[in-house]
Amino acid sequence: MASRYHEVYEAWQRDPEGFWAAAAAEIDWIKPFDKVFDPELGGFGQWFAGAECNTCYNCLDRHVERGRPGQPAIIYDSPITGAKAVYTYEETLERVNAMAAVLADNGIVKGDRVIIYMPMIPEAVMAMLACARLGAVHSVVFGGFAANELSTRIDDATPKAVIAASCGIEPGRIIAYKPLLDEAIRLSDHKPEACFVLQREQALADLEAGRDHDLGALMDAAMTAGREVACVPVKATDPLYILYTSGTTGQPKGVVRDNGGHMVALKWSMSNHYGIEPGEVFWAASDVGWVVGHSYIVYAPLLHGATTVVFEGKPVGTPDAGVFWRVIAEHNVAALFTAPTAFRAIKKEDPQGKLLAEYDLSSFRTLFLAGERADPDTLQWAEDQLGVPVVDHWWQTETGWAIVGNPVGLGLLPIKHGSPTVPMPGYDVRILDDAGHPLPAGTLGNVVVKLPLPPGCLPTLWHAPERFHASYLAEFPGYYKTADAGIMDEDGYLFIMARTDDIINVAGHRLSTGAMEEVLASHPDVAECAVVGITDTLKGQAPCGFVVLKAGVNRPHEEIEAELVRLVRERIGPVAAFKLALTVERLPKTRSGKILRATMRQIADGTEVRMPATIDDPAILDEIEEALRERGIVTGG
Ligand code: COA
Ligand code: AMP
Repeated sequence: MASRYHEVYEAWQRDPEGFWAAAAAEIDWIKPFDKVFDPELGGFGQWFAGAECNTCYNCLDRHVERGRPGQPAIIYDSPITGAKAVYTYEETLERVNAMAAVLADNGIVKGDRVIIYMPMIPEAVMAMLACARLGAVHSVVFGGFAANELSTRIDDATPKAVIAASCGIEPGRIIAYKPLLDEAIRLSDHKPEACFVLQREQALADLEAGRDHDLGALMDAAMTAGREVACVPVKATDPLYILYTSGTTGQPKGVVRDNGGHMVALKWSMSNHYGIEPGEVFWAASDVGWVVGHSYIVYAPLLHGATTVVFEGKPVGTPDAGVFWRVIAEHNVAALFTAPTAFRAIKKEDPQGKLLAEYDLSSFRTLFLAGERADPDTLQWAEDQLGVPVVDHWWQTETGWAIVGNPVGLGLLPIKHGSPTVPMPGYDVRILDDAGHPLPAGTLGNVVVKLPLPPGCLPTLWHAPERFHASYLAEFPGYYKTADAGIMDEDGYLFIMARTDDIINVAGHRLSTGAMEEVLASHPDVAECAVVGITDTLKGQAPCGFVVLKAGVNRPHEEIEAELVRLVRERIGPVAAFKLALTVERLPKTRSGKILRATMRQIADGTEVRMPATIDDPAILDEIEEALRERGIVTGG
């Protein structure tokens, strides 16, 4: 089938507002919009101004009312605990009503913020929807972050309540969440009024009288009483959620998502991009703490009337590298969306794909990859093993859905390994030089998107409009700066090559090396430091910290390095995967004192070292190489 992509993209170019107004017909509005796009609102304008709606209604109630009450909405599959459960749309609505009643009974109203700190359990999805039902603004915090990171988010979002589980489970260890939550609240200036804790049998939490509530018990009571809570009308432009993501400093950015544009974009993407029909099973093997989880575990599949899978496990080790195939076969998954790292992990454990033979994958049509660069070897391996299209697509927490992809629903375009393919309708992607001039095809430059961004993308940062402007709009006037560098080829295919800032991507997780440097610099023995992301065959990148100790420090270096590794784990969390701290005599710098991080990365990766003309003392590069060699990181020579 010839792809309709070009026809659809041109239709959007001819009449962007008409395009999105037509897409908006898929959403149930309480009050229709006055304007498709209002350029006066938000940082660059906002979509569907004047409309009123409710995202929870569109995700649940309308499917129950219109023929899908008995269809599974959520399939919970937890190889790490052995639990499995299926919740129909009707059952999900009943539970969301109960959770919304619990929140409303405790004074949560429209506009209040609620932090959700939960592992991959159905109640995490229900908590998000319960907030949406009330018009409360949720902010989900990933379980792999430490108390300090949670505290930063509590202070920024100033939540009235926190919804948590008593624990998360990682292979070989149970992570008690409640002590982390208590510590985070202790560290915070802002104190939430209430914490609702779901007790999991693997580790029960101590509840503090007055502030803490047993969420399960309250929900059971609300369900027994048949409590229902009406969906609260919100403006299309009101925030649905805040999701914090790494910026260039230790202070994360609070990406704001609105209600109306978000629904329109995600609903459009399910049929046109992912090629999924309502009623089919869509599985995003990510975590609700990341944007992929927000958009494609929770909101998009449910807006679409599809079935989503909440998977609490890992691609390998729970129990083996065949678990993805088991879940696909058992639940008739039509499409899987995950990060390339997951496939690298599976390939490493089962290079011949022997475990695949045990499962019937006849339901499976497409594998979608995103979150980090998809290396051609892994793509090829996945294609060979699965015999279905393997589709890379590129997006960011900020956009909430794909900027560039291969729209399976419109008809697959030819795949070029290494490229996430072409811009989606809504995105006018350009490549500019540092001065903002357009670059010809085939030339590496800054990837930017011409304003306005389409529905679904962030209108601003939470309570930080100046930071929004400075981070995204100021450098290239009229464009959104993605902070990715890339190349557009003659066919309009984009290749994403690297970040232009200090963000690194570790196992598909976005992390700030600046934030890690802040932690290293806080150690009393450290005079100077630099963290760079070095190539890692499994995780894509891994952080590597170089430290210069203060004069007079004469403790063993290994002891200090071990303390630094512990410190990053304690302050940022295990997800930072910071395992490598190296003591060096000096850091390489330019004559003006700028640390040459890119050069250090090139040395560690063994790629061609481009010696900057402005380097202060080239001999330092040899010292860095020697330090890396001692640890077996650079082996060539
Ligand atoms: N709660 C607490 N700790 C967590 C956590 C969570 N939700 N998620 C990860 N961690 C911990 C891990 O246990 C690990 O701890 P360790 O240092 O004690 O081993 C650490 O954080 C680093 O985790 P990770 O980088 O994920 O490495 P891993 O070795 O545990 O697993 C993969 C490697 C490839 C299996 C895993 O990263 C994976 O499944 N990746 C898929 C990527 C993905 O889902 N990306 C989301 C965006 S699409
Ligand atoms: P996040 O906000 O966590 O989704 O991370 C966004 C960043 O991840 C992007 O700016 C890219 O640097 C990187 N990224 C995401 N998807 C891809 C992809 N398909 N190819 C290359 N890099 C990607």
